[in-house]
Amino acid sequence: MDTGTAYGLPAPTHQASLTEVGAGTPMGELLRRYWHPVGLSADATATPRQVRILGEDLILFRDGQGRPGLVYPHCAHRGASLYYGKVEATGIRCCYHGWLFDVQGHCLEQPCEPGCGEKARGKVRQPWYPVEERYGMVWAYLGPPDRKPALPRYAALEELADGETVEADDSSIGGGGPPIIPCNWLQHYENLVDPFHVVILHATFSGTQFVDQMAVMPDVEWSYTPTGVQVTSVRHLPEGKTFRRLSEAALPTLRVIPNPRLGAWGPVESIGWVLPIDDHSFRIYVAGRVSEPGALSRMRSRQNGKLWAELTEAEHRAFPGDYEAQVSQGAIAHHSEEHLATSDRGIVMLRRLLQRQLAAVAAGEDPVGVDRSSEPALVRFAAGNYLLDTESACSPQTSEMPAPGA
Ligand code: FES
Ligand SMILES: [Fe+2]
Repeated sequence: MDTGTAYGLPAPTHQASLTEVGAGTPMGELLRRYWHPVGLSADATATPRQVRILGEDLILFRDGQGRPGLVYPHCAHRGASLYYGKVEATGIRCCYHGWLFDVQGHCLEQPCEPGCGEKARGKVRQPWYPVEERYGMVWAYLGPPDRKPALPRYAALEELADGETVEADDSSIGGGGPPIIPCNWLQHYENLVDPFHVVILHATFSGTQFVDQMAVMPDVEWSYTPTGVQVTSVRHLPEGKTFRRLSEAALPTLRVIPNPRLGAWGPVESIGWVLPIDDHSFRIYVAGRVSEPGALSRMRSRQNGKLWAELTEAEHRAFPGDYEAQVSQGAIAHHSEEHLATSDRGIVMLRRLLQRQLAAVAAGEDPVGVDRSSEPALVRFAAGNYLLDTESACSPQTSEMPAPGA
């Protein structure tokens, strides 16, 4: 009798604690212990903009003094959306009865009340979140106020060579796609520690999407760093040289991935952040060192020689990239149907690391990478593309060490 047919297949399930990001969920609370980029600096303007972050709908704006603000949409008076508000020098004014709120939600005016609300307005606060600007992006902290860390600084974005500047980009995942990717954020985050897909998806299946060297099957090792999982991929190139590539998925959602197009050898030139919009969509913000303006956004993969948006449906099918592979795993990947293999060791390690941090937060502790000191140390990663003249193997296997934290 043949077995293993799809008949009677149980409905798929996913690990909710690792994937769901709404307020009050375990992962939602873990992610709320960190700062996240919520827009490019250019997105915060005098025109209120609707943004969705970790399942919360919010309004991003910039007041007349240049201060970015991120507030709950429903006005504290009677709930009209501040999306229809007018931005003024000192804050945002609700369209319905004109209450004016500053970037920290203080009510400055209530024009229909006696004395412009002089007596009562101090009792009202529009719910708001702290924001800061750095690396061309607006960052927000959506967590408990008493747990707010310092906004980290990264050596890769602070130590610039002559002529280099830092610029930000939000156009899509590196492999191509639209700005908003319609699947769970963890699918993309796990992809960062999956170096074998580079050889199959990006270099064999759909032709060369990066460069020829990436098509060589690497020797791979995974190891824990203080805040993430590092991948070491070693490729023996035909001319007797060794290409050693270090990349990392760091908490909370960092992509520390050197350029797969191998522009210049050396340390990683950009850092990306996976922003979960909600349980079923995410987007990417990247900041990187560039020597020419616009270089970051021009770094797009091609499938069949075309950009993702130019492909016909038949070409999407015949030349799949990251978007096709990750979105087709499902709105949230079907964890109950997976068969993890030896090449998925990095994914197992990353899930274990995340589970450790969920436990830490549940126990009232800080997750890894949270630094509340006033002068936090520069965050430094080993990631980069390195070309060695000699034969070189992977470093000793360290993946059995326990996940950091807790
Ligand atoms: S609902 Fe906003 S001022 Fe009345
Ligand atoms: Fe990829």
